[in-house]
Amino acid sequence: MTVAPESPRHLYIFGAGGQGREAAWFARAAWGVELSLTFVVDEARYLPAGGGVSAVVLDDLRPRDGDRWVTAVGSVPARRRAQAALAATGMAAAQVVHPSVDLSALAHLGDDVIVAAGAVLSVGVVVEDHVHVNVGSTVSHDCVLREYATLSPGVHVAGWVEVGEEAFLGTGASVINGSPDRRLVLGARSVVAAGACVLADVAADAMYAGVPAQRRR
Ligand SMILES: CC(C)(COP(=O)(O)OP(=O)(O)OC[C@H]1O[C@@H](n2cnc3c(N)ncnc32)[C@H](O)[C@@H]1OP(=O)(O)O)[C@@H](O)C(=O)NCCC(=O)NCCS
Repeated sequence: MTVAPESPRHLYIFGAGGQGREAAWFARAAWGVELSLTFVVDEARYLPAGGGVSAVVLDDLRPRDGDRWVTAVGSVPARRRAQAALAATGMAAAQVVHPSVDLSALAHLGDDVIVAAGAVLSVGVVVEDHVHVNVGSTVSHDCVLREYATLSPGVHVAGWVEVGEEAFLGTGASVINGSPDRRLVLGARSVVAAGACVLADVAADAMYAGVPAQRRR
């Protein structure tokens, strides 16, 4: 998928917290304020308090043809569980992309992705399924964001970088270039702390912080 997708008949957003409400903003900016949407939570205690918000517990969800879903919570295990349950309903996933996103026609977006306001995705960027790109993040040419990767607000990833599955980059982190013959790789489930500057590969399951980024655990 290289362009903003067509509007769903109804959008189900898993998560009713900050990320869910932001996803609703991006979706309505993309598809119009009249877009009908419902927040989905996995337990009744997470239903938003107060009226005026349409919300449902996952087990009670009864989608119709043309409805779509997206997951908008930070926890990857919760995203995985919700994604499996939502896909099992037969609904297709959505791609929620704020209209201010500068999305190259030569970038590829998977399903159940959220690309927030002000992000830039350059040529040759591959965004796999279930990835979140938060506000103002930029991803330069030929990068790959593997499934369930998260870029927090204001992350900058230079060209030829692979962000591993479930990797998390904290707010304002930067990653320098890899090269065409060898991408700089952030390993699966790695964590890059807010404000870090990554100059070399990051090991899987490790946490790096600082400028330049050093392994902290
Ligand atoms: C990386 C992060 C996840 C680590 O959190 P944590 O596991 O609770 O780690 P701790 O706070 O115990 O810190 C461990 C060490 O790393 C250091 N550290 C943590 N974050 C750091 C940062 N951003 N820059 C430099 N050092 C940092 C701590 O000072 C601590 O050092 P010490 O062992 O010498 O005392 C967290 O600090 C962070 O940066 N989160 C980003 C949050 C964010 O951007 N959220 C946006 C959501 S959309």
